[in-house]
Amino acid sequence: MKKILIAYFSHEGENLIDDELVPLSKGNTMLAAEELANSLREKGGNPSLFRIEEMIPYPYDYNGTLARSRQEKEDGALPLINGGPNGFDLYDVVFLGYPNWWGTIPAPIHSFIRDHNFKGKIVIPFVTHGGQDFLYSLDEIKSVLKDVEVIKGFSCSASYINMAKHVIEDFLKDNLDLLN
Ligand SMILES: Cc1cc2nc3c(=O)[nH]c(=O)nc-3n(C[C@H](O)[C@H](O)[C@H](O)COP(=O)(O)O)c2cc1C
Repeated sequence: MKKILIAYFSHEGENLIDDELVPLSKGNTMLAAEELANSLREKGGNPSLFRIEEMIPYPYDYNGTLARSRQEKEDGALPLINGGPNGFDLYDVVFLGYPNWWGTIPAPIHSFIRDHNFKGKIVIPFVTHGGQDFLYSLDEIKSVLKDVEVIKGFSCSASYINMAKHVIEDFLKDNLDLLN
């Protein structure tokens, strides 16, 4: 299998699931990223996981995170993040995972894209969401990663995050040739 990186951003803490505020000890996108890594390993791959983290953490509470992220979106802000994995240049395929925030990619994903050179790589975005799937996020990624091959990955609804394994297996079944 090609050399694969799974880079993801995920907000830990309070989240709104089916109209209820619930504390999540592990974010949905982190769960999906780990499931993806397990599935790839079961198929003979050896993916690396990298968690993209903002240097000034988003608030624990849902509403605080909504407020800050809305402001960042309005300002086109690029928050400082924790860099990237060693040897980024050596990866052939980058799975890029994120929650749908305001219909698109969270600001730390913008920061990660800005900080790395994706030329020659295959980029496979995957999303977790509250009902809106990828919405504008794929177009946003394609517009900032011009001349890079971007292939639509899988999406998992926050309400059915326990189905992530099935969604991922379905995606891999149809796209394994991309990874070999
Ligand atoms: C700041 C913020 C904005 C969000 N905006 C949307 C949205 O526009 N559309 C949507 O379907 N879900 C939205 N959601 C829901 C998240 O995409 C969903 O809960 C996701 O699974 C969270 O992933 P995480 O736990 O990895 O952070 C939003 C959540 C937050 C915290």
